[in-house]
Amino acid sequence: MVLVAAQIAILPSGSQMSFDTLAPYYRWMELILAGGKMHRCRTAFLDQIPQPKNILLLGEGHGRSLVECCRRFGDAQITCVDASERMLDQARRQLARHTLKAGRVEFIHTDILNWLASGKIYDVIITNFFLDCFRPEQLAQMIPRIADISTPDANWLIADFQIPDAGWRRLRSELIIWMLYVFFRMTTRLAAHELIKPDSLLEKASFTLHRRIESEWGLFHSDWWRR
Ligand SMILES: C[S@@+](CC[C@H](N)C(=O)[O-])C[C@H]1O[C@@H](n2cnc3c(N)ncnc32)[C@H](O)[C@@H]1O
Repeated sequence: MVLVAAQIAILPSGSQMSFDTLAPYYRWMELILAGGKMHRCRTAFLDQIPQPKNILLLGEGHGRSLVECCRRFGDAQITCVDASERMLDQARRQLARHTLKAGRVEFIHTDILNWLASGKIYDVIITNFFLDCFRPEQLAQMIPRIADISTPDANWLIADFQIPDAGWRRLRSELIIWMLYVFFRMTTRLAAHELIKPDSLLEKASFTLHRRIESEWGLFHSDWWRR
């Protein structure tokens, strides 16, 4: 990771948060550091949710969840929001590489915290390795706003890091997550510096945890929240 950080430009202080610099390397970094583990988290429940009509992919990044959604949900409209234009380019390229049509995918380049949704209502929300990018007050602003544009029976899928309650697993996760925040703060100017559990905010927004799978000694979790 240190080597990768040295290879890419470290952003000057004062610059805006952006994953643009990381975008071309992101896929390879993930592959080298985690193999297929993160992707298994992303896809854990995709074959179990009801066929969606409108999917909202937030902070989609390099497009791996987008490809999985396009493959499975042939009739769904997909809205893909990301603050990084270069990440969105990677996502478009992923679609082309898998010969999937981008026609039913709307790409929106914006900061989610400033996004004014178009009035569309979504029955599936997907936030993979995304909610960890936010400070507590930002999550408290964003989650209710996303809930407001979700159907009364919406499903919200989340893959992310977590810190187990106790023992060596906790220490291991704390160390890995601390290193990741140092890395991402250096390379993207990420505002967040600690992992915030979104559970109480999701519950307040009338979502209920339906299933949770933990993996990699508690470092990852995949959640399926339902209304
Ligand atoms: C850690 S990457 C995760 C990418 C992908 N979802 C995955 O499963 O690996 C976080 C992504 O969220 C985007 N992002 C971070 N903060 C954002 C914001 N405020 N608004 C929109 N996108 C944001 C970044 O540009 C990046 O593509």
